[in-house]
Amino acid sequence: MPRSPYHLPGQHIASASPQPSLAAREQESRVHLFLVGAGPVGLVTAVGFARLGHHVTVSDIDARRIATLAAGRSPIFEPGLEEALRAETAAGRMDFTVDPTPPVGSAFSIVCVGTPTDASGPLSTAQVESVVSALLAVAPPEHVVAVRSTLPVEGPERLSRLVIERRVAGPCPSVVTNPEFMREGAGLRDFDVPSRVVTGWLFPEDREAAQAVADLYGPLNAPVLVADARSVALIKLASNVFLATKIAFANELARICDATGADVDLVTAGVGMDDRIGKAFLSAGPGIGGSCLPEQTVALPLLSARLGIPTPLIDAVSRSNVSHQQAVVGRLGALLGEPLGGARVALLGLAFKAGTDDVRESPALAIARELHAAGTSVSGYDPRAADTAHRADASLEIAPDPVSAARDAAAVVIATEWPEFRSVDWGAMRAAMRGDLVYDTRNVVDRSAVAAAGLRLEILGRRV
Ligand SMILES: NC(=O)c1ccc[n+]([C@@H]2O[C@H](COP(=O)([O-])OP(=O)(O)OC[C@H]3O[C@@H](n4cnc5c(N)ncnc54)[C@H](O)[C@@H]3O)[C@@H](O)[C@H]2O)c1
Repeated sequence: MPRSPYHLPGQHIASASPQPSLAAREQESRVHLFLVGAGPVGLVTAVGFARLGHHVTVSDIDARRIATLAAGRSPIFEPGLEEALRAETAAGRMDFTVDPTPPVGSAFSIVCVGTPTDASGPLSTAQVESVVSALLAVAPPEHVVAVRSTLPVEGPERLSRLVIERRVAGPCPSVVTNPEFMREGAGLRDFDVPSRVVTGWLFPEDREAAQAVADLYGPLNAPVLVADARSVALIKLASNVFLATKIAFANELARICDATGADVDLVTAGVGMDDRIGKAFLSAGPGIGGSCLPEQTVALPLLSARLGIPTPLIDAVSRSNVSHQQAVVGRLGALLGEPLGGARVALLGLAFKAGTDDVRESPALAIARELHAAGTSVSGYDPRAADTAHRADASLEIAPDPVSAARDAAAVVIATEWPEFRSVDWGAMRAAMRGDLVYDTRNVVDRSAVAAAGLRLEILGRRV
C-alpha cells in the first residue's frame, strides 16, 4: 500500500522491514510545525505541541513580540505559559522568527492569526487569507496548512478559492481547518485535555490531510471529528453561541432572583443537576466577554440574516448581554440610592475574566463606559490587566491597588472573579471610601470580612 504523503512519519500502514525501537518510533513521530501568529491562541497551541514532542517554529510579523519570546518572556499573561515557553525553548523544541516562510522539513503550518471585527464585520478573514496565500505560494505540495483561527461559515469558501487559484500554477499544499475550543486562563490545560479535536477539509480529497492534522494530537486521546470545513466552522460558532446562551440565561435568572428573593447559585445548581442541561457555564456574572463569545453572538445572526433565515433565539443572545450590562449599572444606581452622575465608583477587576490580562469585550469596561456616560467617575484596579485596560481605554483611571481605587468612592463594584479579591483589606477600603456599598457581580468576596468592616454588601442574584 503506498504511503500517503500526509501520514505522520512513524505511522506506517504496513512495513516489511523490522519494527524500529520504541525510542526510534517516538523520535520519528515528532514533526516540525510552523506556527503563524503568536497571540494567546498561537502561543498556547505552540507550547502544547512542543510538550507533545513536536518541534515548533513560531512566526509573527510583530518583531517586538518575537524578540520578547526569544528573550524568554511571554507577551501575554496566561497561567503557566511563560514557564512552559522557557522550558520548551530550553529543551530545543521551540524557536521564534519573523520569517514568514516555513522552515525546510516542516510538514505542517498552523495558522493562528487574528479574525477580529473590522469594517467588513465580525470574524474578518483578511489576516488568515493573507497568511494562507503566502504559504500556498512557498510551501511544497506535500505540506499541510491547518487554519486554527476561528472562521466564519463562509471562511472555507474563501480559502477554497485561494487554493483553486494557486492550483492553476501547479500542485500546492492542502489547506484544512482545525478550530480550537480552549478557554483563556485555562488554555494550557484545555490543550492537554481537549473535549474534542475537530478538523475540516475544503475538498473531499483532503480528508487524509485533515486526519493527519488530527493525528498530531494523537497522544492526547481526545475524541476526533473530521468533517467538511463548512460544518466544522459551524461547530465552532455554534459551540460558542450556545455557551454564550447559557451565560445569558443565567444572567437573566440572576435578575429575576434579585426581584424575587431567590438565589441564582441555588437555582442554577438545581437546574444544572439535570445532566441534559449540565451546570457548566450556568454561572451568573456581569456579562459575556472576551474576544470570542460576544463577537460570535453577532456573527451568527448576521449569517442567518444574510441567508434570510429567521433565528430569533440566536439573534437574542447579544441583545440579552447588552441589556444585562445596562441592568447591572441600573441596579448599582438603585442600591446606591443617590444619582450616579457626580458619584465616584471603584471597579475591582478589568479583565473579562480571572486568569487573563485580556480585556477585549470585558464586561468591566462595558460597565465603566455606562458609568462614564451617566457622569460617574470610575477608578479601576486589576492585578494583571492594568496595562491592557489602559491601552483599550485611555480615559479610564487606573489605580495601583484596591484601596487607592476605593478612595472617595461611593461604591466598590467587583467585576472580575480574581481570587485575590477574597482577601481584600475591607477595613482599609472602608476607611478610604466615602460611601459604604460593595456590589459584587461575581460572588467572590469574603462576606464576613465585608460585613466586619461595616460595609453594605450586595451580590448580583444572590442573597447575602
Ligand atoms: N478559544 C479562545 O478562547 C479564543 C480566544 C481568543 C481568540 N480565539 C480565536 O483564535 C484566533 C487567534 O486569536 P488570538 O486572540 O490569539 O489573536 P491575536 O489577534 O491576539 O494575535 C494574532 C497574532 O497574529 C499575528 N499576525 C497577524 N498577521 C500576521 C501575519 N501576516 N503573519 C504573522 N503573524 C501575524 C499578530 O501580530 C498577533 O501576534 C482568532 O481567530 C480568535 O477568534 C479563540
